[in-house]
Amino acid sequence: MSLSALKSLGRDFELSKKKMRSIIRGFHLEMDNGLSGRTSSLKMIPTYVGRPTGREKGKYIAIDLGGTNFRIVSLTLKGRGVSSDHHVMKFALRKRDIASTGKRLFKFLAGSVKTFIKENRISRLGHIDLGFTFSFPVNQTGIASGTLVMWTKGFSASGVEGRDVVALLKRSLEEEGIGNISVTALANDTVGTLVARSYSDRDCDVGIIIGTGTNACYIEAIRKVRKLKAGRRKPGAMIINMEWGNFNKLKLTRYDRQLDKKSDKPGAQMLEKMVSGMYLGETCRLIMKDLISKKVLFGGISPAEFNKEMFFKGEFVSQVLADRTHNLAQIKALLRRSGVKDPSPEDRKIVRRVCELVSIRAARISAAAIVAVVTKTDPSIRRKHTVAIDGSVYEKLPGFSGKIKEAIRELSGRSSGKIRIMLTKNGSGYGAAIIAAVAANKRGSVR
Ligand code: GLC
Repeated sequence: MSLSALKSLGRDFELSKKKMRSIIRGFHLEMDNGLSGRTSSLKMIPTYVGRPTGREKGKYIAIDLGGTNFRIVSLTLKGRGVSSDHHVMKFALRKRDIASTGKRLFKFLAGSVKTFIKENRISRLGHIDLGFTFSFPVNQTGIASGTLVMWTKGFSASGVEGRDVVALLKRSLEEEGIGNISVTALANDTVGTLVARSYSDRDCDVGIIIGTGTNACYIEAIRKVRKLKAGRRKPGAMIINMEWGNFNKLKLTRYDRQLDKKSDKPGAQMLEKMVSGMYLGETCRLIMKDLISKKVLFGGISPAEFNKEMFFKGEFVSQVLADRTHNLAQIKALLRRSGVKDPSPEDRKIVRRVCELVSIRAARISAAAIVAVVTKTDPSIRRKHTVAIDGSVYEKLPGFSGKIKEAIRELSGRSSGKIRIMLTKNGSGYGAAIIAAVAANKRGSVR
């Protein structure tokens, strides 16, 4: 019984090379649709930002909103490389900051910037340029303006969707008495990550986040961005924010459907719901609940915790997969803490298998998506490509990055040697500062 339930689960979550190839074809179609302004699950948002020259200089502040923490950094760009004299501050985001009103959220952001300036003794008198990393789908209208299309990742502050988020931030900074700070750039975290890496790596042309949410951006020839008005279609290249989390041509299991139905935005962000850290644990929980009801797990007895939505967090999946003890003692301890009285050796193995299946599927979807992005601009992978990547899932989920690389090799054979996946930590904030430098036109220029 237990074996057949697990086998069918394995089949549901398995992603063969053939299936990955069909994901790649789906991506190419949706990318073209999005670039041409036709209906598409990929928004393919023009960012009005190109690759930095590497010569950008000056002092900047960058703020970064979009994950579990709100981060502020100050740094000095010295041309090719970031100086070490930067300060970083992290502020935990509470539910009441992200899920009440926009006014409250932006007051919190501006208030934190004020604290940051004070604590790091940054002068409040002179002019300061700030790069704003805002990691949500934004309809960008210029390098420092854009309206929020919709909140993702559980954010829901009212009165922000449809509004220009730079204008909202500026107003709050003025209200805090720090209007000397000008918001000179608005960037998605993927764009920040790409820009941060390409400051010193000319081969970098893709930026990816796999963390609380997931998304990618890449460098595209402007003439291919057909939805831009003819006057804006200049020669050269521009970074496109794909918002790949919303890709919706994947085969869903009934657990994915269940998760989606209960989510904030049913039908939206389907790839994100199968890949990112915010949802991986919940998918595992739904499977485990099903296995409990089939009496395959925990002798059919469901501990109360397992009935709570979102109780099985992404970190739990990491802990389960990190257990290298021969009798899975760490999994046992984790299950005990979660209310399972005496998890049998069989239970522990099943829990590990569930976490493996869900996270390997996530890695293989990500790999197919990465190959799709690379082959969109370079179908036979003739050039070198550095893929700058950041995010807790990529960095911390045991085995995840290895599975991505393995699947990329499976898909692109020897050419896979031309694709370098580089962990680019905290790139999103640094990148926003570099974009602010480009925008402030200090010494840089957009190519
Ligand atoms: C979500 C957001 C996207 C962001 C990603 C990673 O998918 O919509 O803008 O880049 O999360 O943080």
